[in-house]
Amino acid sequence: MIIAVDGPTASGKGTIAQALAAHYRLPHLDTGLLYRAVGRQVFLDGGSPDDPGDALAATSFPESLLSDTELRSEAAGGLASRVSVHPAVREALFERQRSFAVQPGGAVLDGRDIGTVIAPDAEVKLFVTASVEARALRRWKEMQLRGEPHTLAEIEADLRRRDERDRTRAEAPLKAAKDAVILDTSELNREESIAAAIALVEAKLRG
Ligand code: DC
Repeated sequence: MIIAVDGPTASGKGTIAQALAAHYRLPHLDTGLLYRAVGRQVFLDGGSPDDPGDALAATSFPESLLSDTELRSEAAGGLASRVSVHPAVREALFERQRSFAVQPGGAVLDGRDIGTVIAPDAEVKLFVTASVEARALRRWKEMQLRGEPHTLAEIEADLRRRDERDRTRAEAPLKAAKDAVILDTSELNREESIAAAIALVEAKLRG
């Protein structure tokens, strides 16, 4: 079974995807991390995330970069959003994601285009969303814990910028697949979001 979990930053999709993977004993791929690694590699190379050539070159990042904690920073998220607009970057990362999705036994993937591009054949597609205010507050709390001193207003402005870029890019924009189930987590805490996601998957599997 392939479970596709898409949605904007800080919607709770990563937490939900991880929990679904544990619940159904499936391997999980956070595809945002791949784009974050490309963004971080461009930065380390001294290139520009807006230059398609620089961004494409950075898709050959070393595997060790994926465990760099810096990838979770706001800066890496911003760079990821910028490199992800280039079709050549998306193409370069496609095969890795596709083969993860179709591995025997199934998988859970989370990102922006899993249900639409990477695994349009997924048995279950969730589109996890939340209000920008709720997402900014979550992000702000996370950043506080990481010791990244950003104000709530800065985070909200950054989220809006990133949402706009992810939604309006020409290639594989962030949007719910036609057959995706929408899960709004604005009013839900972590446990409630996970329970709601499992209930939706169960309902979908029962047909
Ligand atoms: O989910 P995230 O915040 O880690 O993603 C970072 C950026 O990567 C996001 O702004 C857009 C891009 N991304 C993408 O274009 N496609 C995906 N499947 C996953 C992430």
